[in-house]
Amino acid sequence: MTTVVAATGNEHKLKELKAIMEKFGMNVISQEEAGFGGVDIVEDGESFEENSFIKADAIMELTGQIAVADDSGLEVDYLDGAPGVHSARYAGEHKSDVDNNNKLLKELEGVPEEERTARFVSVVTMVYPDGRMLSARGICPGKILFEPRGTGGFGYDPLFLPDGLDQTFAEIDQETKNKISHRANALKNLERMLG
Ligand code: IMP
Repeated sequence: MTTVVAATGNEHKLKELKAIMEKFGMNVISQEEAGFGGVDIVEDGESFEENSFIKADAIMELTGQIAVADDSGLEVDYLDGAPGVHSARYAGEHKSDVDNNNKLLKELEGVPEEERTARFVSVVTMVYPDGRMLSARGICPGKILFEPRGTGGFGYDPLFLPDGLDQTFAEIDQETKNKISHRANALKNLERMLG
């Protein structure tokens, strides 16, 4: 099994990357397991692609091992694609997921259901010590609800109703999310590149 270090401090992302990549025969370990827990990388890119590469490349350089990073976020059509690359800090630095969700609900106050279309986007990048780089994008389309539903998942999961389901990402089980999510779709595209 190929060992890959996940360039993330987000436990939920780590769990999802681990579960999905295990199916391609890859053993995903945390930065901590690789000896670099707590390393925080400045994500100053302007796109998911740039930030995903910045994170994977930094962790490959530090560990000398193959690294994988996910940069992801929520694009809301009514808000011209916001919060987008700023999803993690939408309500400000050091704010919680609940603060971000509340801000989103406020920005969408009075917006009818048919105008609440959105998509989660993920760009997954793998960087190898020999300089090779693979990157793939995946999306999951859906709608933003009027109030949160469910207690699972993280981030904007309780407000996101994926197309074709009547449960939010916070209500469905992890296995179902890992089949249809933006991260799963990015990894499926990446798997094709792995050949
Ligand atoms: P990143 O760590 O800079 O890629 O920030 C990603 C942010 O996008 C997270 O902090 C969440 O707010 C949001 N996000 C990304 N993927 C998901 C997901 O699967 N569910 C809910 N929120 C997500």
